[in-house]
Amino acid sequence: MTILIKNANEVITLKSAEQGPRTKEQMREIAVLENGSVLMEGNSIIAVGPIAQLEADFPKLVKAAEVIDASGKVVMPGLVDCHTHLVHGGTREQEFNMRLNGATYMEIMNAGGGIHATTNRTRETSFGDLYRKTMNHLDVFLKHGVTTVEAKSGYGLDWETEKKQLEVAKELQATHDIDVVSTFMGAHAVPRDYKGREDEFVDVVIHDMLPKVAELKLAEFNDVFCEKGVFTPEQSQRILEAGKALGLTPKIHADEIEPYKGAELAAEVGAISAEHLLVASDEGIQKMAEAGTIAVLLPGTAFFLRAPFARGRLMIDEGVPVAISTDFNPGSSPTMSLPFIMNLACMHMGMTLEEVLTATTINAAYALNRGHQIGSLEAGKQADVIILDVANYKQLQYFYGMNHTNTVIKNGRVVVQDGILLTNQLVN
Ligand code: NIG
Ligand code: FE
Repeated sequence: MTILIKNANEVITLKSAEQGPRTKEQMREIAVLENGSVLMEGNSIIAVGPIAQLEADFPKLVKAAEVIDASGKVVMPGLVDCHTHLVHGGTREQEFNMRLNGATYMEIMNAGGGIHATTNRTRETSFGDLYRKTMNHLDVFLKHGVTTVEAKSGYGLDWETEKKQLEVAKELQATHDIDVVSTFMGAHAVPRDYKGREDEFVDVVIHDMLPKVAELKLAEFNDVFCEKGVFTPEQSQRILEAGKALGLTPKIHADEIEPYKGAELAAEVGAISAEHLLVASDEGIQKMAEAGTIAVLLPGTAFFLRAPFARGRLMIDEGVPVAISTDFNPGSSPTMSLPFIMNLACMHMGMTLEEVLTATTINAAYALNRGHQIGSLEAGKQADVIILDVANYKQLQYFYGMNHTNTVIKNGRVVVQDGILLTNQLVN
């Protein structure tokens, strides 16, 4: 199938001569093409440019193409949501109410709620029910313009359930239009029955779970919740190094609630990204800049936990490549709207309109090791393109709290049109 998008008010290409995640002022260089067109064939982008140039360079393809008129609209790469806890059982609205009444996130978790509550629900939920629940969530992500989503396990904390979560993600990668990228996070919490025997559980993760994840090819990344009262930096390091030896790229939940030298650890173990970083130290930020570690910032979590926001502005100014993401999960960020998260990044982390676009496209793609494939509109890249019902990209955050997604083209196929999902992927 050949598709030509033409007459777009603006095409945000994010094209750059630079390779690798964008830093500092590069994060503002989003490469806007006015009155632009995008030509796609099969699942690839063929060319981006003024229509006259595409007609001259690819006359046959342009003639044969199905034309989408994007007059008055903005075209950009599909959004990449690079940090979610996608597959989980149940919801936790009652804990939200407890927090509104004064309880803290860690108090609830230590009393057996929080991650433990979702772990129980995920263990109880059948593969089929988890699959259908997650499928519905992916539909919502897609309608918000997200074409690639990361999915962490970590609500099993036993092999059987961790495997179930990862297999649900793998099945959805095969059946749903969205690309699902898996991260193993067996070390998301210490299971209740390992209380006081934390190192034993770390050994289970290292010697029992990780080798199976690698052998069954169930994940590309390995993540750990490095947090006071959860896993220490030493335990986190052991888990990340063990994953590395098996070919799993390290990620880390770092400095979310209390400063714990998680950013420093991320740089030291060569993690592709450190995530959260609400209370990361100056030194940790420096080390990440030097190592090129991507900061995956999740302002929805600060918003929903009423915690301090990560110092996004400072991180960018210090040279850390920044990506932003929803952290979609049932406890600290139950939203599937990356556009809302982009708004929070502008309002509460001092990021500019251009920086949030870079942070949810090309930098997020690099955080998933896919910067060569997605995240910008360039010849040869995957045809993941969205058309937004705004006159220019500045209106995206100006008209806040709304979903502007009009059309989503995933892998060269129109899957959302006029805001409506075209395909019903539910397979019983
Ligand atoms: O990224 N911090 C750890 N994990 C999640 C929250 C998980 C939950 O509360 O269920 C997070 O915020
Ligand atoms: Fe998270």
